[in-house]
Amino acid sequence: MSLAAAHAAPPNLMPLPAKWSAAPGGLAIDSRFRAAATGYTDARLEHALARFVARISRQTGVAITGAPGGRTALTVECRERGPEYPTVGEDEAYRLDISADGARLQAATVTGALRGLETFAQSIAPGAEGFAAAALHIEDRPRFPWRGLMLDVSRHWMPVEVVERNLDAMAAVKLNVFHWHLSDDQGFRVESTRHPRLQQFGSDGNFYTQAQIRGVVEYARERGIRVIPEFDMPGHATSWLVGYPEVASAPGPFRIERAWGIFQPTLDPTREETYAFLDDFIGEMAALFPDPYFHIGGDEVEETEWKESAAIQAFERVHNLPDSRDLHGYFNRRLQEILKKHGKTMIGWDEVLAPGLAPGTVIQSWRGQASLADAARKGYRGILSFGYYLDHLKPASFHYAMDPLDGAAGQLDREQTARILGGEACMWSEYVSAETLDSRIWPRLAAIAERLWSPREATDVDSMYARMTAVSRVLDAAGVRHRANYAPMLERLAGGGPVEAVRILADASEALGIEGRRGARKYTSLVDLNRFVDAVRPESESIRTVEAAAARVAAGQAAGPADRAELCVTLRAWAENDARLEPLAEGNALLAELRPISRRLSALGSMGLRAVEYLESGQAAPEGWLEQQNQALAALEKPGAEVTLAAVRPVRLLLEALTRRSQQTGAAQAMEKRR
Ligand code: ACM
Repeated sequence: MSLAAAHAAPPNLMPLPAKWSAAPGGLAIDSRFRAAATGYTDARLEHALARFVARISRQTGVAITGAPGGRTALTVECRERGPEYPTVGEDEAYRLDISADGARLQAATVTGALRGLETFAQSIAPGAEGFAAAALHIEDRPRFPWRGLMLDVSRHWMPVEVVERNLDAMAAVKLNVFHWHLSDDQGFRVESTRHPRLQQFGSDGNFYTQAQIRGVVEYARERGIRVIPEFDMPGHATSWLVGYPEVASAPGPFRIERAWGIFQPTLDPTREETYAFLDDFIGEMAALFPDPYFHIGGDEVEETEWKESAAIQAFERVHNLPDSRDLHGYFNRRLQEILKKHGKTMIGWDEVLAPGLAPGTVIQSWRGQASLADAARKGYRGILSFGYYLDHLKPASFHYAMDPLDGAAGQLDREQTARILGGEACMWSEYVSAETLDSRIWPRLAAIAERLWSPREATDVDSMYARMTAVSRVLDAAGVRHRANYAPMLERLAGGGPVEAVRILADASEALGIEGRRGARKYTSLVDLNRFVDAVRPESESIRTVEAAAARVAAGQAAGPADRAELCVTLRAWAENDARLEPLAEGNALLAELRPISRRLSALGSMGLRAVEYLESGQAAPEGWLEQQNQALAALEKPGAEVTLAAVRPVRLLLEALTRRSQQTGAAQAMEKRR
């Protein structure tokens, strides 16, 4: 529970701290601001302080130079180093006190101090006398020790700088695990010196050198983030086999897969050569990645090659492995011995849960809390990813409502519950490029970060959205480009013409996720992601504002004439937008596909304006009008050009209010007649 009065709006922090109280005023952020460690310090903390000062300089535009004459406004009192490399369950707690006189951050460990610095950065906003950190008292610690993001760099290649800026943003919302999905059918993304044909034949030249990997691991460590590599096997492994067909279950030859789905090429679990290869390869990777956990994938294993191979079928009979599931289990047990030899603990997707799995294994559930609960009952630890798939482009509120301890996991006893370590959001990269990635992750990932860090009772969706809107801007200063890339992508579509009409349509739209784009056209990893849908956001922030205004107008609670006027300005802009977009679309294929949804947005604008008129005048809509509009709305809601019009939502609110009014009037008239 918050220390503050229940009615006080929480500060614009995300994740919400375990305990907080706010006071009026704050600490001025000016050019003389200094932050200094006054307790334990080391290179990791000093680097963090330097980054912190640069960051709040960017956030405020205040040149904090560090030149003599400054005042130490923030002291960081750290008791001890804590683990040098971030560790599951390490102490991440901190206390933060900010007042007009100064700020004091206390933490047992450097990692705790890192978390507290992020809270301080988020607390800064313009105040009566310029930028200030809000006066706050905070006592904070995470609910779950494992809070991550999985990033697929196989379907689409993500250069090091893309990874690094996302690590900065992860640190800003206190995430502590970067799960790097480094191999799949569409690409093998790590340099192996022992098996160089992996990257030479499996990557189109897009792979991380070992020096780059070490650099990213260190970058993450400095920010209190663990790095877990995933090499998906025995399925999702086509890219391995292009260079090493000898460890495949079928003769090959193989080529890098360009499409999406579940493919047949699979490592051969029956041959000792496969295990010798994996022993060597995992040994090399184990030395490169210091984290004790090593992800072996294990999902969606296609059995066709196993069924079609006489040798593999004979092996199953000899080893008493009745079916492919048992053979997969055998493979995992062998793999587990290899991992153990190299000092690693196995983590795998749901499908690896089978008899004989070593104790200590971590199950990552993409299928739901039921399989997480099943694993926990059998003594395995687990993390939840079901419900945290960012590539589905669902609203932040959807992810926010998903708790690792919901559903079947809610039935576990204390000991079993303790095995559920947290969760990871998943960013599969079928429909993202280095340019669009950030807007598919941020700011929605902040809502998942809050679910995993903050007390379970933090469930107020309006509060979450209000804070997420603010934190989304802070993330700009952390370096991610979810907002920065939007305008340039739209301008590129407009080809140098006036962009306003494209922007109005984009602001009113939401991009479809993987489910909606599948089948829309023939996508592969070679298709450019430069269309309107790629620029459009998963969730429209501006429509949220319009919805709030429409709700007030619909309830007859407009915050004055300006509120209503603003809503009408937006609706009128929609109504007139198609006439502005049409000339731009002429001869521009990238805009021409928008014609149908552009016409629909204008229809929505006109409909909304009429609805506001009826609502405000108290005049009844003509007979049948509401019915017609509701039918039209259903058609306007259908996707086009792989986006949907979020603008439907506020207009629906207005129509619903009119429907309620007409029902009330009807009921009153009926009463009148009866009398
Ligand atoms: C998965 O989504 N196949 C892990």
